[in-house]
Amino acid sequence: MQPSLRDSWWLGGVEIPTRVVLAPMAGVSVQAFRRQGRRYGAGLVCSEMVSCAGIEHRNERTLGYLRVGADEHPLAIQIFGSEPGTMAEAARMVEAAGADIVDMNFGCPVRKVTKTGAGAHLLEEPELACRITEAVASAVAVPVTVKMRRGVVDGSRACLAIGPRLVEAGAAALTLHPRSATQMYTGFADHSLTAELVELVDVPVIASGDVTSHAKAETVLAATGAAAVMVGRGAQGNPWAIRDIVLGEGAAPSREEVAAELIVFIRETVRELGERRASGFLKKFYGWYLGHGRFPKPFKNEIVQLHATEEVIERLFAAAPGAAAIVERLEAELPDPEDEILLDRMPISIYGGG
Ligand SMILES: Cc1cc2nc3c(=O)[nH]c(=O)nc-3n(C[C@H](O)[C@H](O)[C@H](O)COP(=O)(O)O)c2cc1C
Repeated sequence: MQPSLRDSWWLGGVEIPTRVVLAPMAGVSVQAFRRQGRRYGAGLVCSEMVSCAGIEHRNERTLGYLRVGADEHPLAIQIFGSEPGTMAEAARMVEAAGADIVDMNFGCPVRKVTKTGAGAHLLEEPELACRITEAVASAVAVPVTVKMRRGVVDGSRACLAIGPRLVEAGAAALTLHPRSATQMYTGFADHSLTAELVELVDVPVIASGDVTSHAKAETVLAATGAAAVMVGRGAQGNPWAIRDIVLGEGAAPSREEVAAELIVFIRETVRELGERRASGFLKKFYGWYLGHGRFPKPFKNEIVQLHATEEVIERLFAAAPGAAAIVERLEAELPDPEDEILLDRMPISIYGGG
């Protein structure tokens, strides 16, 4: 019998409460995004990819990305790099920070990453990819997973050749986004490859790509035998899509709910990134939240033009006064920031001590 999207499952020794995983997305998967994803039913959330070299050199910006809240678990932190020793050291640090799973990025198609030998480039270097996986899996006690694309060039089936080898090297699960790196986000995710991968390995496979509705999620699970689906772009500015995908209950949010979720998201992100970085970072989220016919276009356009986040919040409250009570409730549920683990306050190496 096909599992329900509401069922829990196991990834190594970690129980994941639902079969919907929130995708790692650079420039998107900040803590506020992950936290909201969990609240709306994602069984597992993931940080955006963080550079293992950035961790090694204690780059302030990289470490700023690594912030683990008490309400985020189970949480995967994704690292990328191309050198086994540095990846292993980064894995130890993110494990110490509280990651329940260490995920490795073998799929990023962006040139800035692939030219350093990391991301999707590793799909063409299976020996190195396996050595990295072995080094990372033996460095940490938590499960180590790999997220990959189908291969680098269109039509590639590299993921099927490398997948079983990565499992042998210690990967406790594989996520497949079955587009080539060359495709970036064009065309469609060919989940017939996901089904083939499921047949080849005896660890859970997570299917990523083009899952935007409950019906699509059920179809992908049924057609592939994957343990879970991953949702990325469909959840941008749209936590309600996650609830819909998990439960199959597609009630559209009210304007008050949208404004309230956005206001909490803004405040959390300002706390995380500081006003200067957050004000630019958030602009794309305004479009995502206020679109879908939820607010008139001129209102959305006006919001995107504003610089100070406080001004944005004021306008949102003015446009949806009923949001205030929801914001109060949501903020009362947030854990105490004192309970958070911040990597920028940790020593560079848990072994070296500083
Ligand atoms: C803006 C953006 C940033 C992304 N960043 C990452 C990343 O840091 N690590 C990663 O493994 N995948 C990343 N991805 C890929 C997604 O995790 C996912 O595999 C892909 O978007 C396909 O799923 P979707 O159709 O549900 O969006 C990113 C995708 C987008 C759109």
